[in-house]
Order: sequence, then C-alpha cells, then structure tokens
Amino acid sequence: MEIVTRMMDGSIPYDVREARPGSPVSGPPIRRDEKIEHLRRVPMFQGCSARQMRAVARITEVVEEPAGKILTRAGEPGTEFFLIVDGTARVEVSPQRQGRLGPGDFFGEMSLLDGEPRSATVVAETAIRLLVIDRRHFWTLLTDVPRLTHTLLVTLSRRVRQAEQSPNS
Ligand code: CMP
Repeated sequence: MEIVTRMMDGSIPYDVREARPGSPVSGPPIRRDEKIEHLRRVPMFQGCSARQMRAVARITEVVEEPAGKILTRAGEPGTEFFLIVDGTARVEVSPQRQGRLGPGDFFGEMSLLDGEPRSATVVAETAIRLLVIDRRHFWTLLTDVPRLTHTLLVTLSRRVRQAEQSPNS
C-alpha cells in the first residue's frame, strides 16, 4: 500500500507523535495493538486489511477528553479530523440547529477539505474517546482507504440536504 511505502522511504513520519510534538494527547502513548482495537470498532475501517490497519494506526492519535470539552470552535481554523470511538458530542451549527454525533461518526472534515474555518462548534457531551488525524495525514488516508472517501461523500451530501430542509438555513 502506498502509505506504507511512504513511511518506509521516510517521506511521511513513521510515528505520528514525531510529527506533532504539540499533540494534545496526555499520558503514556498507547500500544499499537490497543490503537488497532479502537480502529476496528469504527465501521469505516472494518473492511481494512491488517496491513492497512497498521498503517492507519501509525497516522492516528487516540485522544480522551472529558464531558464539556470544546473539540472544534466555529470560526476558528481547523487542522484535524476526528472519529468518535466512545461517547457522544453535540454539534452546534446555530442556536436553532444542533445535532448529536456518536460512536462511528466523524467531524472536522469540512475545514480540512476546503481550508475554511470550522463551520460549527462541537462539544463533548460525555467523556469521549476520539481518533484524531491531522490535515496532512487526512489526505493520505482518503487516498488509501477508499471506503472513507465514500462514507465522507455520503455524509456530506446528507448534511447538505438537512441544511437545505432547515427553515433557518
Ligand atoms: P468542520 O467545519 O471542519 O468543523 C465543524 C464540524 O461540524 C464540521 O466540519 C462537520 O464535521 C460538523 N458539522 C457541520 N455541520 C454539521 C451538520 N449539519 N450536521 C452534523 N455535523 C456537522
């Protein structure tokens, strides 16, 4: 797989922690096996081979945040994509339009796709465990895990429909 080749030739880092010294992750690094266990619970990765999973694990951080933590703030620049493993988050698009995301759902893709500021504030509703992928690795991931691109397009299309149906949009 292309991503593995690039890791081996050094054009992308082998360990994501080396790439992001300012990482929000606290506590000891989690074992790769444990990370892969979390990845396996995310539906869009369930079709991945063991090799793909190892590659995805290398570019992913597992972050645990308490209830109430603001994960993205509307209007601010965004550099990370998030997948929820455990817990729920509230999406606040406007006072009239709010939604809830749970395990298997993702957010933060819009700013990475178009480079614009965050479109909504996302707040942890419960203690939450997230897989976090930064901008550079996000594009690699889209190339290497076609199912992710497919799910992303379906979800974006659904969000546009919902926005068009809303009387306040
Ligand atoms: P982004 O704009 O990067 O950061 C805020 C995120 O909230 C956004 O990406 C989407 O992932 C998510 N989001 C925005 N609008 C909606 C919506 N109507 N429903 C669900 N999630 C949304």
